[in-house]
Amino acid sequence: MNAIVTAKDVSQVYEVRRGMFAKQLELKAVKEASFSVEEGETLAIVGESGCGKSTLARMLTMIETPSAGELDIDGVRITGKDKGDAKRLRSTVQIVFQNPYGALNPRQKVGTIIEEPLKINTSLSRAERRAKAEAALAEVGLRPEHYGRYPHMFSGGQRQRIAIARAIILEPKILVLDEPVSALDVSIQAQILNLLADLQDRLGLTYVFISHDLSVVRHVADRVMVMYLGRPVEIAPVDALYADPLHPYTRALLSATPATDPTKKVERIRLTGELPSPFNPPPGCSFNPRCPYANERCRTELPVLKRHGATEVACFAVDEGRLPPARAETLIQA
Ligand SMILES: Nc1ncnc2c1ncn2[C@@H]1O[C@H](COP(=O)(O)OP(=O)(O)OP(=O)(O)O)[C@@H](O)[C@H]1O
Ligand SMILES: [Mg+2]
Repeated sequence: MNAIVTAKDVSQVYEVRRGMFAKQLELKAVKEASFSVEEGETLAIVGESGCGKSTLARMLTMIETPSAGELDIDGVRITGKDKGDAKRLRSTVQIVFQNPYGALNPRQKVGTIIEEPLKINTSLSRAERRAKAEAALAEVGLRPEHYGRYPHMFSGGQRQRIAIARAIILEPKILVLDEPVSALDVSIQAQILNLLADLQDRLGLTYVFISHDLSVVRHVADRVMVMYLGRPVEIAPVDALYADPLHPYTRALLSATPATDPTKKVERIRLTGELPSPFNPPPGCSFNPRCPYANERCRTELPVLKRHGATEVACFAVDEGRLPPARAETLIQA
């Protein structure tokens, strides 16, 4: 396997002022995240709202520069003083956002929207751009006559197809998909997921697939990275994650996912307590106030990712062998 993205201790800090006279606070949206994305795979990123998924997406797509750490994309270092020439990466990584309504300019025709990246990044002629746009429309299952129409004439699913057409027009290697189907009806979700799977096969794309929906992730991911308060807490192959989740937070997330088979008994691990404020995260493991297995060490020391079989997990209860086995059969939701 060949890593196309390597992140080492990547962090993003925002300076935030809450109220006019309030003093500036630091919000650490992503903290020392280390992970890789292998060429051709789908890495899913999951976790509750505010855990830093979109912040990570903005760094991977170079919309934002990490405030610390090393990030390599397709062989180019994009951080620090050894920074390489990131210009060519503008076409290597593209992003698709959740909201197919907000992402498309309502005053522009579909053709103009799809061609925009070509206009900015290439010197193709008008006719060449049009030919590429029509090819991209076909690629996402739309028709040539859609070229001259406006976004409001399309359904949510079709608009997401338009956004995907724009994302692939520069022939990227990596697509970052930030909740690409969360705003769509369930019946439409499956169509878009099938289209994405198809495109990945045909174009050899690598996906970073962000989602809070673990039942969707199970179908699309090769590997899953679970985040909690800005940190990856478990990274595992998809089968291992669903069969034998290790981090107590992963277990809680999985047991909150509705089972498709209602006759199956599902052990519920309830998340007790509030999600801590990102301005004031607890010392030690961020998950400790909500964790049934937390001990003194968890309240003072920060666990880092360690390998256990095919899984990497940041949890002292796992390291120390005090975690009960996951009741795999009751957690799996087919
Ligand atoms: N530009 C910004 N300035 C200040 N704080 C920000 C900014 N962007 C994100 N944050 C904060 O950083 C944290 C992570 O936000 P992020 O949007 O990455 O989370 P997320 O996992 O994508 O959440 P969601 O599931 O709701 O999309 C949150 O606490 C958020 O309020
Ligand atoms: Mg987000």
